[in-house]
Amino acid sequence: MVSNTQPLQPSFAKASAGRVKVAIIVGARPNFMKAAPILKAMKQNGSFEPVLIHTGQHYDALMSDVFFKDLDMPAPDIFLGIGSGTHAEQTAKIMLAKEKYLIEMKPDLVLVVGDVNSTLAAALTAAKLNIPVAHVEAGLRSGDRTMPEEINRLLTDQISDLLFTTEPSGAENLKREGVAPEKIHFVGNTMIDSLIQNLPKIENSKILEKLNLQKGKYAALTLHRPSNVDTKEGLEKIFQALEPVLKKIASQNMSVVFPVHPRTRAKIAEFFPQLQLVGLIFTEPLGYSEFIKLVQLSRFTITDSGGIQEETSVLGVPCLTLRNSTERPITIEVGTNTLITDQELSRGKLQAEVDKILSGQYKQGKIPDLWDGKAAERIVAILSKIKPKSQSLKAIS
Ligand code: UD1
Repeated sequence: MVSNTQPLQPSFAKASAGRVKVAIIVGARPNFMKAAPILKAMKQNGSFEPVLIHTGQHYDALMSDVFFKDLDMPAPDIFLGIGSGTHAEQTAKIMLAKEKYLIEMKPDLVLVVGDVNSTLAAALTAAKLNIPVAHVEAGLRSGDRTMPEEINRLLTDQISDLLFTTEPSGAENLKREGVAPEKIHFVGNTMIDSLIQNLPKIENSKILEKLNLQKGKYAALTLHRPSNVDTKEGLEKIFQALEPVLKKIASQNMSVVFPVHPRTRAKIAEFFPQLQLVGLIFTEPLGYSEFIKLVQLSRFTITDSGGIQEETSVLGVPCLTLRNSTERPITIEVGTNTLITDQELSRGKLQAEVDKILSGQYKQGKIPDLWDGKAAERIVAILSKIKPKSQSLKAIS
């Protein structure tokens, strides 16, 4: 559907008088579920004219198209077809392509979600054109500036006019960095809106039958952080820590299912072409409903993703996160997440936490405040105060 390498012709030419024109930017897999509920809420509200722009940062059908279908998102109005590249290449290409459309389309607002390269590139392009920027999922900080996402978050927030946060740490971080409090709005989590809205579809997913799994008799695994998968040492360390876990769970007739991100697939092929771990089932990346169902019915999930830390907290599934830090501390404080740092991984913490889970000793966790499926409605209610072509957000601060 959107795997078109040629930019599409824009369909936004005629702005309807009186409606607020909002360019919504998506680019990579985790953006789609954050943007879908906002688009839906804007359409329901009726006073917006949303224009969906897909940068094409993710372009494989399994990384992009399948999410549009699963989330009932319309095809993007504009597809920039940027594709992969170095950070500078990807960011610069998005900015160049995007600028042209923004100049022509003159939106009242550019809305970006998350922390991927497409987020920063779009925010920066808009800010340089003096177009107001709204950032959904603002204020999250891991404190680790070696993560590309942390740079994207810091810079996007500094140039945003409206900052929508998902958890209390967001506002604390933003205020510490000098962001005016009146720009910050705690609205909840639109990724969780998607999860709640799609529960019936998720329920119908046949992924367990497809992979021959039984509820609670397997764990799910995802890995794609450059710090974990881009070096041989990083991957080796994880597979070494997984080995005893796989043995333990195999002794209980369980397995670990590993939908493999393209980045990780390429690195495993490069460093460990013969890799075989008993009990580890590799699959292609899964669609949205299939993946959430896989996680929902898993005994526990091991990941280095950001969003999965949040989704598991809502689903009440134990989550073991293989990272040195998290930008989502609420998932540890309130939810079901536990961080396992590099050092802790070497010292056997993964196995210790799995033992706790299997013996029923793991924490229960609760759903964080405002993760109730209504975040997009709150965002749209706040954006409703924008006057078309006002180019000023004073009215809503
Ligand atoms: C990006 C985001 C990351 C997010 C992740 C979710 C940045 C800096 N990183 O990481 O925050 O958690 O998406 O998946 O924006 N590739 C394909 N097909 C695709 C897309 C990518 O084969 O559709 C391969 C390419 O080899 C590419 C590599 O994956 O070079 C990495 O893709 P890229 O978009 O640069 O970063 P991600 O690792 O996906």
